[in-house]
Amino acid sequence: MKKPALAAIPRDIVAATDYERHARGHLDDNAWEYLSGGAADELTLRDNREAFDRQRLAGRVLGDVRGGHTRLSLFGREFAHPVLLAPIAYQQLFHEQGELATIMAADAMQAGLVLSTLASTRLEELPRMTQGHFWFQLYFQATRDDTLALLRRAEAAGCTAIVVTVDAPVAGVRNREQRAGFALPAGVAAVNINAPMATSAAGPSLVFDQLMAAVPGWDDIAWLAQATALPVIVKGILHPDDALRALASGAAGIAVSNHGGRVLDTLPATLDALPAIAAAVAGRAPVFLDGGVRRGSDVFKAIALGATAVMVGRPYIHALATAGALGVAHLLRTLREELEIVMAVSGCATLADISPQHLFTPPR
Ligand code: FNR
Ligand code: LAC
Repeated sequence: MKKPALAAIPRDIVAATDYERHARGHLDDNAWEYLSGGAADELTLRDNREAFDRQRLAGRVLGDVRGGHTRLSLFGREFAHPVLLAPIAYQQLFHEQGELATIMAADAMQAGLVLSTLASTRLEELPRMTQGHFWFQLYFQATRDDTLALLRRAEAAGCTAIVVTVDAPVAGVRNREQRAGFALPAGVAAVNINAPMATSAAGPSLVFDQLMAAVPGWDDIAWLAQATALPVIVKGILHPDDALRALASGAAGIAVSNHGGRVLDTLPATLDALPAIAAAVAGRAPVFLDGGVRRGSDVFKAIALGATAVMVGRPYIHALATAGALGVAHLLRTLREELEIVMAVSGCATLADISPQHLFTPPR
């Protein structure tokens, strides 16, 4: 960290994107490049954002929005609004309190939060959330015993859903990180797992013979769904057939994600992939979307195209680096208030009222 986080929100921060500029001054190049970068040429990273900008709102007027609200129910629990904090690894890179600050902010703002397998804070040290909801993002470990042990610790820590990430069986080609020579600084580590997930032993093919030897398949999703009583959300889905396969394997939710453009470049923007997946899922399970969500209008557009709720990634880390828990809470409030304005102006009293008819170009 270059500069310690502030104890107040600077006045020129009025939107989620304002935090990015401030965060740059609080982070060293190492943390900054790790946070900001995407895979290879970063086409997917850029497209995630541009897909939202391409989409225009229809401008529907005079709807009755009395008594409106942003509440929703997910897996039988109430959420105040449809903006969750996506799993982000190693948060002590960005703020000395790391995940503790994030969890306090999410709780205060009644937001859902997904803790990464690669969190830099021990599961046993997390405070219990009483307002928001705490979910755990799972990376399958080298053996099912290791995965099960991690799962049980997350359950004991009070998580109420498991988000299993399937789009990063090996690390992507992160050219920006490579150019910056990214390395975890001393004292920041994935403290909840035993071993680094990749090995570098020599073999005919590092990817296929070493790393991929232990990577999960669809049978592991079915195994996981049996191994826990909690709902399992599969994160990293971009194709409707994979969404259906996930549901058939016991998934209770689908997260449309390309990992913020960080693993495989030239994947489609998540907003573009969403409608076909939402159509395939057809209301049988909640559909989440992440990648490029920066405005309340983005949340609205995602919901109009079939998402149940969204997750934000980098923006809350920008807020964390700038102003700690206060920053993250303020960011959540900003997004929620923007969403309320878009709903009110578009004549949508509840999330259920948001439909493709509120977009200028509804999907065919
Ligand atoms: C991530 N993401 C991620 N996803 C996951 O399942 N487990 C993880 O540990 C991480 N770690 C991580 C670190 C950093 C620095 C970033 C930027 C992202 C992906 C994350 O959950 C989410 O899919 C994207 O960040 C969403 O895109 P935006 O909002 O950052 O554009
Ligand atoms: C990343 C891994 C940790 O995106 O998921 O950096």
